[in-house]
Amino acid sequence: MVAIAAIVLAAGQGTRIRSRLPKVLHPLGGRPMIDHLLNTLARAGIEHPVVVVGHGADVLEEALAGRAVTVRQDPQLGTADAVRVGLTRVAASVRHVVVTVGDAPLLPADLFQQLLREQAEGEAAIALLSTRVADPTGYGRIVRDERGGCARIVEEADADAALHSIDEVNVGTYCFDAAWLRANVASVPASAKGEFYLTDLVAMAVGAGRRVSVVMAPRPELAAGINDRVQLAAAEQLLRQEIAERHMRNGVTIVDPATTWIGGAVEIGQDARIEPRTVLSGATVIGQDAVIGPNAEVRDSRIGPRSVVWASVVEESTVAEDVEIGPYSHLRPGCEIGPRCRIGNFAEVKKSHLGAGTQQHHFSYLGDAEVGERVNIGAGAVTANFDGVDKFPTVIGDDAFIGVDTMLRAPVTIGPGAKTGAGAVVTRDVAAGATVVGMPARRIELRRRTSESGPDHDRGEATASAERHSQGGRSSRPDA
Ligand code: UD1
Ligand code: CA
Repeated sequence: MVAIAAIVLAAGQGTRIRSRLPKVLHPLGGRPMIDHLLNTLARAGIEHPVVVVGHGADVLEEALAGRAVTVRQDPQLGTADAVRVGLTRVAASVRHVVVTVGDAPLLPADLFQQLLREQAEGEAAIALLSTRVADPTGYGRIVRDERGGCARIVEEADADAALHSIDEVNVGTYCFDAAWLRANVASVPASAKGEFYLTDLVAMAVGAGRRVSVVMAPRPELAAGINDRVQLAAAEQLLRQEIAERHMRNGVTIVDPATTWIGGAVEIGQDARIEPRTVLSGATVIGQDAVIGPNAEVRDSRIGPRSVVWASVVEESTVAEDVEIGPYSHLRPGCEIGPRCRIGNFAEVKKSHLGAGTQQHHFSYLGDAEVGERVNIGAGAVTANFDGVDKFPTVIGDDAFIGVDTMLRAPVTIGPGAKTGAGAVVTRDVAAGATVVGMPARRIELRRRTSESGPDHDRGEATASAERHSQGGRSSRPDA
């Protein structure tokens, strides 16, 4: 095995991003920028790179713990100085050193492999990555000699007008002959600004008669450095577009990719449809034929086949098949929603399980609730699950009917088939099949209607009659 190491440069202040957060920790596609780079290096076969840290070192070291070896560069005297510091953590047996700037997170893994091959097979002192850009401002320019070889790299600040017009630029990613790098990195002269530029090593190698090879990155947009938040947003857009295209090619309809944001780890089933202004993030899985959006946000959740999430927020929850959610519902963490449930306007659910076919409607709240199948949760119904100190559970049996504006003071159990009247404040358990009304809710017997006296009572009628009982003070018996 040929010993290869990587050094990632991330000690600079990142002045242009104007942030208190280290630049390489700024999120891109929902993950810190440097995560992308570490994953890419791993894909190229390079694990545990050395990351040179400086500005914001404490935060950065914490973020990288277990994934990289960190070493501090203090003071930050330029990229050559950073590599010198990084080399102190590279084993003597290492023969090829990949160096990359920490702020080019979208580089593809195969370019790292290509650089390694170029350097190793060509016995070059340096193999470097270049690319052609429409606007080279800010980049080091690649100066070619008469025979087309790379003669040197000139930094923006040191370039005259003629050099400014060169559109082939240095990406900031290299593979070095480790022995040559160790012998020469400390000899880089100080620049006019007093910094030590890694890019000066190119002219030094050429001057010493060593080979410098260049690999040209075919897609400049993936090689771009992120120095400010405008470039960060451009990278975000690019990433978003790539992810959306991958799903579309896999058979997912994305109605408006420009307003859809899908995280890199999200999975989406065939013939699902993602409507405009939708955000899918984290470890989210969307089932086949599901419709998400418009205006939906789903984070770290599973949505079953054929389910619909319209203008709603779903967090850390599991939704089965054929469910309809929204508009304007909020599933907070820990919900499990059974098949064919309907969760309507302004419903909030937290850490609750809803059985198959249960319906929860207008401006209602279920928290810490175990709800059976085919239950109806009326408008304004609320589980009072919190006494100011502790949370308590509510259990609602199959086929129960919770009338409008019912308050369920937890802990409380509503038996299967039980009913609560409009405005009931339920403070005690309700037996299976019982009907309770009032404040505090007490039990009543419902008169059975015959077909002559009116239509068979449905759920709505039962609630209304319970309400009349309670208001007229004619309830038959207190709750047993
Ligand atoms: C650098 C290159 C330039 C290249 C460009 C590509 C140099 C001198 N210039 O310029 O040729 O076109 O990247 O994006 O190398 N860093 C340290 N320690 C330091 C200074 C910088 O670790 O003392 C780190 C920074 O945190 C950053 C990386 O090195 O991640 C590059 O530094 P930056 O200031 O962004 O260099 P550029 O001006 O973009
Ligand atoms: Ca940069």
